[in-house]
Amino acid sequence: MNTKVRKKSNIVLIGFMGTGKTSIGRKTAKVLGKGFVDTDILIEETLSMTIPDIFKHFGEPFFRQQELKAAIKVSDYKNHVIATGGGIVTVPKSLNMLRKNAIIIWLKLPFNTIIKRIIKDAGRPLAFDKNDNQLKALFDSRSRLYAEHCDEIVELEGRSIEQAAMQIVEIYEKTAV
Ligand code: S3P
Repeated sequence: MNTKVRKKSNIVLIGFMGTGKTSIGRKTAKVLGKGFVDTDILIEETLSMTIPDIFKHFGEPFFRQQELKAAIKVSDYKNHVIATGGGIVTVPKSLNMLRKNAIIIWLKLPFNTIIKRIIKDAGRPLAFDKNDNQLKALFDSRSRLYAEHCDEIVELEGRSIEQAAMQIVEIYEKTAV
């Protein structure tokens, strides 16, 4: 039995669009026997709208406000794995809320792997209308923010969902915070 007393019982996954935060988060939660929540799904359920429709009708600043509200809500959760949208790092308050009760892990993949997954993806409004160069610029600026805000990094290249989840579990078990 794990007898460590933890102040931070959540795990927050950050990273660029298409890294697999949701699937890896679900798997990690299952292995650790924790709950799972995804801030994008929470926003969609709260507004009964899809992310592309939220961006289309209300724009990105409105979406970021909803993301902050979702972060505030789930920051009170205990024992959860929390997957986030790739842009949550653009509003420092959102991450600071989550950080109260979580270690923050950056799921990292090279741009060349990511671009194949997200280019022209209609479900991702910030990727849909961008060409390779524009996506690379977004990737670079976001990567600086992930590096700044994360506690730990998990490199995903060549790893399956299960392997990534096991590495997160290992990091979590080692981190007695
Ligand atoms: C966004 C990433 C998306 C979603 C929204 C905005 C971003 O989540 O929150 O489309 O700004 O990078 P995923 O990272 O799950 O694709």
